[in-house]
Amino acid sequence: MFVSFEGIDGSGKSSQAAMLVERLRGSGTEVVASREPGGTALGERVRELLLGANDVAPWAEASLFAAARAQLVSEVVVPALERGAWVVVDRFLDSSLAYQGGGRGLGVDAVLELNRAAIGGVLPDRTFLLQVPVESALSRIGAGRLDRIEAEGAEFLETVAGEFERLAVRFDRIQAIDGTRSEGEIAEEIAGSLCLL
Ligand code: ADP
Ligand code: TYD
Repeated sequence: MFVSFEGIDGSGKSSQAAMLVERLRGSGTEVVASREPGGTALGERVRELLLGANDVAPWAEASLFAAARAQLVSEVVVPALERGAWVVVDRFLDSSLAYQGGGRGLGVDAVLELNRAAIGGVLPDRTFLLQVPVESALSRIGAGRLDRIEAEGAEFLETVAGEFERLAVRFDRIQAIDGTRSEGEIAEEIAGSLCLL
């Protein structure tokens, strides 16, 4: 089973990914947890390039995310799924569709095309989209520790959030979740949806 968590920065997806991993491990299930960008040695180097550099052209940004994803799929996701483990990732394909396709204006279908080659058809079985208003997300993360992409500001994040919403309508695997509730309530909904209760 391959599960991804998506949403704007501060939506609570890392917390929910961690809670799901803990629940699965508690019941004796093998889980491989990862995050994007990163999750492999190459991916972590790409992460530094992406989040630290000053000026990254939009297609360079999209291509670097896709490169890190290609490595993650081949090194981590496919081997884990082949041995029957669960894979839980904090961000995957849909982040590129929403941030680069929507936020950067490259177009969702163009970015999807680029990523199709990178992921070779390996898509999550289920994707949970954590939805919270941009102002709440920004106040949760605090202005002090924003990375290069997060620092784009509220208007950019509104565009990204709108694109995520459209993706949830377009793809059946994506389930929109009201992320304004307590962490526990959200975790129960997700576990229920995965038939883990
Ligand atoms: P993301 O991975 O989407 O950026 P995190 O899971 O790291 O989000 O959460 C961002 C911040 O919001 C953290 O300080 C976390 O403790 C807090 N948080 C997460 N989920 C909730 C929630 N349901 N309600 C209130 N605060 C939350
Ligand atoms: P990260 O620290 O993972 O995000 P979070 O704050 O949610 O924990 O930072 C990743 C940043 O990269 C985040 O701002 C979203 C962005 N991103 C993209 O623009 N495209 C992508 O494909 C991915 C995976 C992330």
